[in-house]
Amino acid sequence: MRIMRFLAPLCAATMMFAAGNAFLNKNASLYADASGGSALGELIVSSTVKELSKSGDFTEVEFTGFMPEGSTIAYEKAGILMVGFEAKDATVYKIVGQQKDEYDTVWLNVSVKGFVKSDALGSDKAKILASGKVLFQGKCGSCHALHAEDEFDANVWPSILDAMGQQASLSKADKFSIVKYLQNFKP
Ligand code: HEC
Repeated sequence: MRIMRFLAPLCAATMMFAAGNAFLNKNASLYADASGGSALGELIVSSTVKELSKSGDFTEVEFTGFMPEGSTIAYEKAGILMVGFEAKDATVYKIVGQQKDEYDTVWLNVSVKGFVKSDALGSDKAKILASGKVLFQGKCGSCHALHAEDEFDANVWPSILDAMGQQASLSKADKFSIVKYLQNFKP
């Protein structure tokens, strides 16, 4: 009986919140606390975060990524320009390590913790990328034929989308949704 009394609250706490990975289903601000006050920066659609705890409408998450020295943008992988988090400034990051890519460029391994609205998180990355595909098919084939998803690699698509985003008057959200779909097409 003594053991039961000890275990019961422990099980309840575990069932209430299952920590694990989640994916951004849209671009969303990352806040310093669970009141949504000051933003540390913006998490970008389809990026992976670790869920740490829940607090009202917010979930505390940790994003871990890579950035070249002197940058404020952290990418999901070292050497691949898939934006994970755009920080308001570099001080929000904790540097946890570093590594060199094949061109000898140093990438800092960084992490940032904060609170994101829980409705910006999803569990199905394929479904999130599929919304990017719908946008790509809807917005990118009106002036010219739709380009093939595998025509360019993950480091080339961002500059094309910067140029085409202006042509197609894309919002930042739509641009990232399309570029993340294209970058993940042939990972
Ligand atoms: C308003 C018309 C218009 C829309 C909409 C448009 N494009 Fe284009 N696109 C162009 C024009 C014009 C060119 C050729 C000249 C240039 O490269 O700017 C082009 C060229 C391209 C190229 C070839 C670039 C190269 O260097 O070979 C790609 C790839 C491309 N577009 C992708 C896209 C994608 C992806 C979208 C959707 C976000 C898109 N386009 C939407 C007008 C458009």
